[in-house]
Order: sequence, then C-alpha cells, then structure tokens
Amino acid sequence: MQNVIEIRGIIRNFQLGQETVYVLKGIDLDIARGEYVAIMGPSGSGKSTLMNLLGCLDTPTSGSYILNGNDVSKMTDNELADIRNKEIGFVFQTFNLLPRTTALDNVALPMVYAGISKKDRVVRAEEVLTDVGLSDRMDHKPNQLSGGQRQRVAVGRALVNKPSIILADEPTGNLDSKTSLEIMQLFDEIHAAGNTVILVTHEEEVADHAHRVIRLRDGMIESDVRNK
Ligand SMILES: Nc1ncnc2c1ncn2[C@@H]1O[C@H](COP(=O)(O)OP(=O)(O)OP(=O)(O)O)[C@@H](O)[C@H]1O
Ligand SMILES: [Mg+2]
Repeated sequence: MQNVIEIRGIIRNFQLGQETVYVLKGIDLDIARGEYVAIMGPSGSGKSTLMNLLGCLDTPTSGSYILNGNDVSKMTDNELADIRNKEIGFVFQTFNLLPRTTALDNVALPMVYAGISKKDRVVRAEEVLTDVGLSDRMDHKPNQLSGGQRQRVAVGRALVNKPSIILADEPTGNLDSKTSLEIMQLFDEIHAAGNTVILVTHEEEVADHAHRVIRLRDGMIESDVRNK
C-alpha cells in the first residue's frame, strides 16, 4: 500500500533562552493510506508536537517528512500553508471555530483559501454538514451549539477540502463519555469511507476505535501495535 506519511529521523528541539528543550528525539514512522491510528503516551511525551509536524503547522529541527509524495520538511511557510489546506484536515480539542460565524460559514472557510466559488462553497458545506449530522443546525453559531455539535462542525471543516489525512489532537478531550462515543462513531465512518485518520488520545476506549496504536514516551516511539 502507498504511504501517505513517511517520516525519517525527526528531531524537534525548542530554544528557550539559553536552554534547548529536546522534545522529539528521532522518530521514524510510515503510515499507509487508509490507516486508522491512535497516538498515546504520557503528558509531555511529544504527541502534540508530533501532530503539529504531521499537520504542517510546524517544521522539524532535522529529519525528513514526505507527505503524499511531497518533501514538506524543507518548505517555506507559504508552501506549507498551501499543502496544509490541500492535504490536511485538523481537529482540535477546543474546536477552534470562529465564534461569530455560522456552522455553514465555518465549514466553508477552508474553501475560500482554496479558491472555490461562493456557490460551490455553499453546496459543498451543506453536503458536509449533512454528512456529520447537522443538516438542521447550519445557521447556528458556535455558542448556539452543544460541545458535540461544535466538534461535528470542526470535523466537517476538516473534511471539506477532501484532505489526504485527518488529524485530531484529543478530539474528545472536552466531551462527556456519551458525546465522545458519538464523535468516535463519526471518525469510524470517516475511516470506513476510505480516509486516513490519526488521532491523539489519553483514553483507551477512544484508542480502541483505531486499528493501530503508537505509544510515545519521552520523545520516542515506545511501541507500535496493529490490533485489527
Ligand atoms: N514551543 C515550545 N517551546 C518549548 N517547549 C515546548 C514547546 N512546545 C512543546 N514544548 C515541550 O515539549 C514537551 C512535549 O509537549 P507536547 O505538547 O508535545 O506534549 P503532549 O504529549 O501533547 O502532552 P499532553 O498529553 O499534555 O497534551 C513538553 O515538555 C513541552 O513543555
Ligand atoms: Mg498534547
């Protein structure tokens, strides 16, 4: 199977004044198209740092990252923004929706940057909101939606440009257990539709939805297990 992600020798340090903080200490990782992966590990082990690199929100100190055939480790900020918009759908723990903007316009926003016409944006956003179960909430603003509904909007926004991977950093971290299960059923459907899904979680029940579990410890991969 074709790899959508190929990472070799990724190191990420941060400079804090005189001090260097060593966070990722040499990560090698291949993820094939259509995989469903959970990333786990203790707080501070580097999960979000790794996700930000995978999502082209950050670049490594050294090492290589080939995303869908493109070497992104050496790209400029503008090139990264382009590839991010095209290849990546990112879902955050805190939803990160625009507060004064309807569900429809939040979902349509990535298509503005992709240069899609207003008419096509509305059609596609309505289609995606229907897919995530919000056909009756399109004109609601985030504060008129429940937490689970907000996360559905965020998932819709992540899917709208048909990215090659969906990344989610603790997508159920702010949700109760019933709503978490609903969001995970949505990720299951997204995976079943052929998407590559990578999510970070602290909860075993959430990780059980994935087919492969990667555990980080102290900036390195401690284990990588396929369970389905
Ligand atoms: N910009 C930064 N500057 C300095 N240190 C950083 C920076 N970003 C992250 N770190 C450090 O890197 C380490 C890993 O952080 P990261 O956010 O990746 O952890 P995590 O595994 O996602 O933890 P959590 O489960 O709590 O979300 C932490 O010790 C953190 O302090
Ligand atoms: Mg984190």
